Amino acid sequence: MIAKMQTIKALLSGARSVAVLTGAGVSAESGVPTFRDDGGLWKERRAEELARSEAFFRAPELVWEFYNWRRALVEKCDPNPAHYALAALEKQVPEMLLITQNVDGLHQKAGSENVLELHGSLWRLRCTVCVHEEENLEELPPLPACPKCGHLLRPGVVWFGEQLPAGILSTALDTVGKVDVMLVVGTSSVVQPAASLAHVAKRAGAVTIEVNLEPTHNTGFMDFALHGKAGEILPELIEGI
Ligand code: OAD
Ligand code: ZN
Repeated sequence: MIAKMQTIKALLSGARSVAVLTGAGVSAESGVPTFRDDGGLWKERRAEELARSEAFFRAPELVWEFYNWRRALVEKCDPNPAHYALAALEKQVPEMLLITQNVDGLHQKAGSENVLELHGSLWRLRCTVCVHEEENLEELPPLPACPKCGHLLRPGVVWFGEQLPAGILSTALDTVGKVDVMLVVGTSSVVQPAASLAHVAKRAGAVTIEVNLEPTHNTGFMDFALHGKAGEILPELIEGI
């Protein structure tokens, strides 16, 4: 483990460009529940049941209750050492893009600047009818209405069955196709297209590194895998870089 750590440190120190992909595991130590680990449920429901447009248009109050619960929960959470380590890494390497599947905003709160939110943000709202979009950090009513047209607002997140915004996906693909190192942290790597970004990076010649509590679907093809808590491994990994 120590030799592997030294090798990865050397790779990160020498890299001109790094892409990082994060998932819910990075925020777990901040108290944000993950989706697929024990305790990742809300009212006995799976995220896949609620985080989809069919659920929203059938029962908008229920889906908004779920999102308002998540907004209230995340508001009370602080970034953890994993978020801070990635913010520090960005300052150390010449080029770094942090691609996150997380919608909690904790990377930005920790000081990361170059962040691509693949699945949107809990703090962004969109109108279901007109083009209105807003950032909103306030407590919301059970069914928030669009200030422009009065119709229902929805969370500005990507739901199951929805495409990622085209510009966001192409930026992610372009970036991972060019980097020297790709670091994947705290994701089960089951949700596409995020899970395939590491494959794209590897095919294009990047060294791929996974940091996760346990092995994932992608561990087998990674060049390096470190198993443990992101909040413990990442600070160690970037120390002295
Ligand atoms: P998951 O809940 O699927 O996976 C979280 C991963 O983090 C698991 O592999 C855990 O083993 C690992 N993990 C947990 N605690 C950790 C820790 N302290 N340190 C390191 N790893 C830890 O979450 P995601 O992979 O992020 O999408 O899920 C992907 C997408 O599915 C989400 O963005 C969301 C979800 O449904 C949408 O809502 C569109
Ligand atoms: Zn509107």
